[in-house]
Amino acid sequence: MEINGQTKLAAVIANPIKHSLSPFIHNFAFEQVNENGIYLAFEIVQEALETTISSIKSLDMYGANLSMPYKEAALAYMDDVSEVARLTGAINTIVNQNGRLFGTTTDGVGFFKSIKDFVVKDSEIIVLGAGGAARAIIAEATLQGAKQITVYNRTYKPEVFEHYPGNIIVKPLEALTELSGDLLINTTSVGMDGVSMPIPPTMIIPQNMIVADVIYQPIETPLLAYAKQQGNQTINGLGMLLYQAAESFKLWTGKKMPTELIWPELEKKVY
Ligand code: ATR
Repeated sequence: MEINGQTKLAAVIANPIKHSLSPFIHNFAFEQVNENGIYLAFEIVQEALETTISSIKSLDMYGANLSMPYKEAALAYMDDVSEVARLTGAINTIVNQNGRLFGTTTDGVGFFKSIKDFVVKDSEIIVLGAGGAARAIIAEATLQGAKQITVYNRTYKPEVFEHYPGNIIVKPLEALTELSGDLLINTTSVGMDGVSMPIPPTMIIPQNMIVADVIYQPIETPLLAYAKQQGNQTINGLGMLLYQAAESFKLWTGKKMPTELIWPELEKKVY
């Protein structure tokens, strides 16, 4: 699509951001659905956050994505926030609704969309880690009616989830002695090195438990390799990256991102 006087802007605001895959995903999608939009990456300093966010209004942008380290700080500049963002305490998406800024996070919903056949309602989930990704995923899971979520974290901090609705049990990582439930999610960075495992290396994984990792580089973390070898369904974090983008795109344009067309291109780019 030709850039012209009507082209509308979306952006990701973060630091660092120059290697982000989001511009590729969104610009590919704009092109495919014939939407006159463009998506850029803005690497800004902390002091510029407020003015950058207010320019979403003055430039009549679609909105923006936020990534590290601004997901929490940006929340304060929103006119409205979603329930999932309020629980998470962070946003990854700003939607410009006729000059009012609506903040939400699509990380959790994107994560669950990436596990195609998984029904969150009434499920039992184990989450490793209690950082930003875990908070967003757990907020979404509680809002979608998960039956029980057990969080194991290296640093024991039960207060993080005190204000969440739903049945959430928080434990220190050492208390992880066995696995049960429908879904195991690793949200820690353990496994990025291609060597380490966030669970003891011989721990039995129940047969029907899906094992997910938010890491997508390497394509298969040692946890996923081990789970696959045990016969479990596994899923890495690339789907979460794509589907959180698809949810933001939908909020901005009202159009479905053609994820099935982007997926092979994204895989080619990353692997
Ligand atoms: P993200 O936004 O990707 O979730 P984050 O907010 O920095 O990143 O969270 C990282 C998570 O990985 C945290 O839960 C962290 O545990 P701590 O709260 O104890 O820091 C966890 N984590 C990082 N390195 C870890 C390690 N070597 N072993 C276990 N947990 C680890």
